[in-house]
Amino acid sequence: MPADAPGPPASHPPADHGHYFDDDPQVSSAPTSVELTLPDLSVSLSTDRGVFSRDRIDPGTKLLLIDAPALESPDGTLVDLGCGYGPIAVALAHRAPRAQIWAVDVNRRAVALAAANLAGHAGARAVHPDDVPSDLEVDEIWSNPPIRIGKPALHELLDTWHARLRPDGRMVLVVHRHLGADSLHRWLESTGRPTTRVASRMGYRLLEVRAE
Ligand SMILES: C[S@@+](CC[C@H](N)C(=O)[O-])C[C@H]1O[C@@H](n2cnc3c(N)ncnc32)[C@H](O)[C@@H]1O
Repeated sequence: MPADAPGPPASHPPADHGHYFDDDPQVSSAPTSVELTLPDLSVSLSTDRGVFSRDRIDPGTKLLLIDAPALESPDGTLVDLGCGYGPIAVALAHRAPRAQIWAVDVNRRAVALAAANLAGHAGARAVHPDDVPSDLEVDEIWSNPPIRIGKPALHELLDTWHARLRPDGRMVLVVHRHLGADSLHRWLESTGRPTTRVASRMGYRLLEVRAE
């Protein structure tokens, strides 16, 4: 938890017993579904216990998918970093049917759900980070990042993925101010990544981080 975070938004509780970022959730499975409703897309997504925001689309995720600037590389390589059951990846696949889409998560139950939710999108796959090619180059990374893994791990994660951006590439992140959005913004700037707050609503910040 960032030092400047008085508490998480209600949508960021641990996933039942354990954490939503556990590799293999121990909590028993109870499959269900949630509706992802956006101005351009309405779809039912499979979800389950042991994954992030299983009961509803996280409000930060929804805000990212509604308020973020349009895709810059609809024919490129797009990543949903920390995909959970895949709402961001599914929206990207819908908006960019010719793109190569990587939905990536450490939580294997989430990866399986995202794969199921992406079925029918030929260019999309859901994988564990160990299965990402080390030489993957990326045009856009869209993420509601795993703040609760702690600052050092989050910074390492963003370092790893920022290094995979092509020179014209960008990251688009949604983070709540109570979860340290502004200190994350300062850290990104301090490490030389051009970062702009492109939207701010309901306490959430949308940060666009350019490759260079
Ligand atoms: C805030 S949740 C967002 C989930 C989903 N994108 C959504 O909007 O509902 C962050 C996700 O990041 C995943 N995560 C944690 N550490 C990760 C890592 N090192 N690499 C990839 N994903 C990770 C967690 O398991 C979790 O599903």
